[in-house]
Amino acid sequence: MSGSKSPQSNGISRKKRHSDRPRSFATKLIHFEGAIDEATGASSVPLYQASTFHHADIEQPQTYDYSRSGNPTRQPLEDYIAALEGGVRGFAFASGMAAISSAFMLLSAGDHVICTEDVYGGTYRLLTTVMNRMNVETTFVDMTDLDRVRQALKPNTKAIYMETPSNPTLKITDISAVTAWAKEHGLLTLLDNTFMTPYHQRPIELGVDIVLHSATKFLGGHSDVLAGLAVAANESLARRLGHIQNSMGNVLGIQDSWLLMRGMKTLKARMDAHEQSARKLADWLASRSDIAAVYYPGLPNHPGRAIHERQSAGYGAVVSFDVGSGERAKRLMNKVTIPLVAVSLGAVESILSYPPLMSHASMPKEVRAERGITDGLLRYSVGLEDIGDIIDDLEQALAD
Ligand SMILES: Cc1ncc(COP(=O)(O)O)c(C=O)c1O
Repeated sequence: MSGSKSPQSNGISRKKRHSDRPRSFATKLIHFEGAIDEATGASSVPLYQASTFHHADIEQPQTYDYSRSGNPTRQPLEDYIAALEGGVRGFAFASGMAAISSAFMLLSAGDHVICTEDVYGGTYRLLTTVMNRMNVETTFVDMTDLDRVRQALKPNTKAIYMETPSNPTLKITDISAVTAWAKEHGLLTLLDNTFMTPYHQRPIELGVDIVLHSATKFLGGHSDVLAGLAVAANESLARRLGHIQNSMGNVLGIQDSWLLMRGMKTLKARMDAHEQSARKLADWLASRSDIAAVYYPGLPNHPGRAIHERQSAGYGAVVSFDVGSGERAKRLMNKVTIPLVAVSLGAVESILSYPPLMSHASMPKEVRAERGITDGLLRYSVGLEDIGDIIDDLEQALAD
């Protein structure tokens, strides 16, 4: 499937550019292929609410035949994320987990995966309770230490799965170091870029083969759409992933594709504002003596800060912190008045999560403890509210 095509173009198209200067990310977010409808000039991609397409000439292949295989509303979204990540082809799925599980379908029975140890809980569940039944085994390692990654290599290792910053303790993996090593061993590299988005981090430029997103988070940005995206770095992977998407059928619906594009247009403005507040929140938490630990890659004492700054243009909007005990964390969650107390992150509204009972509930308690997901750990996804109000609210909630 090539780029989006309008079936009855009336010739309305973009003016030709007279400059070869690459456009900046901010401009790419607004002016993408398909952003103006060629048939009517409409300022957003039309909703082609159709499952199937008439064959005008049965002998002639046509761009779209059935919406599982391709849809003219979903296609501009898939082209959009591919352009933002710098890959060759994008794929839109029904959720982040649909994208991640589809990427793992590139593996076969008998293969081995090396995965970052503090991976999103749902990915951990997929690898330890589903992929294991397909005879795909996983070794979880602390990816802040490249030696551990090297030691995990087995004759049947086929892939490395990264998440950086990781969820929820915001550990940093050196992406280029891992991809360089992986290439020496012919391994496929996958990276969950949900926390950073392509605005801050473009893993394909650092050698990653497949970038994955829970677009439910910052890309969508409004807690109103569940979606996943994948981008392939080269044509042969793109062909294989396209085959899997069509075979599994876990594609993103038409209305949700439209909603996601609507959200993505404001990604830069939202990320800038989110991050400005997140930095203030992290500094404020770090200055308090009653907070046992603060995890944020922008803090001067974050052990991965230098590596993070080499590979990312920002620190993001997720701040995790340990209030010392499970009782105190639960008291705080009952007292806050600004954030949603909920699973998820990356939205206009602040979201406070309790990883031990929410995103990482599927991880056994002892595994959580090993990975720093303590009973007092909270994860704050800083929204677009006034930061003074966010801090006031937390201050009253922390008062015992
Ligand atoms: C880092 C990360 N990856 C993947 C997922 C899964 O995405 P979804 O909930 O859209 O299936 C999440 C969800 O919280 C996440 O935080």
